[in-house]
Amino acid sequence: MARLDLRWHLRAWRSQSRWTRTRAAIADWLAQAPEGHEDLLLFGASAGWMMDDAFLARFRRIDAVDFESASGPLFKLNHRGVIARHRIEVRFHDAEALSRLEELLALRPQALVLFDNVLGQYTLTCRDVARAEATLSEVSHRLAGRNWGSVHDAISGPGRVLDIAREPVPLALRPGQAWPDDFLLDAVGGTGQWRDHLTRAVLPTTSESRLLPWQLAPGYWHWLQAGWVRA
Ligand SMILES: C[S@@+](CC[C@H](N)C(=O)[O-])C[C@H]1O[C@@H](n2cnc3c(N)ncnc32)[C@H](O)[C@@H]1O
Repeated sequence: MARLDLRWHLRAWRSQSRWTRTRAAIADWLAQAPEGHEDLLLFGASAGWMMDDAFLARFRRIDAVDFESASGPLFKLNHRGVIARHRIEVRFHDAEALSRLEELLALRPQALVLFDNVLGQYTLTCRDVARAEATLSEVSHRLAGRNWGSVHDAISGPGRVLDIAREPVPLALRPGQAWPDDFLLDAVGGTGQWRDHLTRAVLPTTSESRLLPWQLAPGYWHWLQAGWVRA
């Protein structure tokens, strides 16, 4: 099962300054997570390139799930300060998230569950579009009774190269509100072919969420959706 994606880690390492505002927007959203959990079940942890130390500091034990083999060592390296200061027990699981979801949830029944920029990749690993969409729309039912959240790709594609200072700000999406697709594309000068990551049914329609811009590469944009669901 183990894969190695050094290209992603290299890109993330080199992109730290361009991703500053997206990281801050994610940190701001993470700060709104349901409280009272000592355990975190973190899907798609990777090396935590966009993860905020202040959020990790809330937990005594973190079970991270990622099928990419450099993720564990690099996560522990990137977050070594907070892990050591707060004596956080971090354990990595090399597993595919959705096929083993129930088993992983049962491992930590009291944990807060976070899908950290992973569900939007499901359309890339599961090539059957109808199956991917159905599987993603089932996630919230499978999480019934748990406090959980997800930040995931919604759409992505080419646009303008923008300096950090000129990046659009995050947008609130009220429960049931129609997606402002034209606005999202205009805000980043979107052109050409954009990918829909089929994640719009991940969060229940009753959930509030935010749409966060992420300039993955210069002139290549993702709009992420981030939301929390309380049990
Ligand atoms: C965009 S990266 C996540 C970024 C990460 N949260 C960070 O802060 O660096 C997506 C990660 O999810 C992992 N991943 C993608 N699909 C997965 C799946 N179905 N099961 C487990 N891990 C998966 C990839 O290996 C990758 O490390």
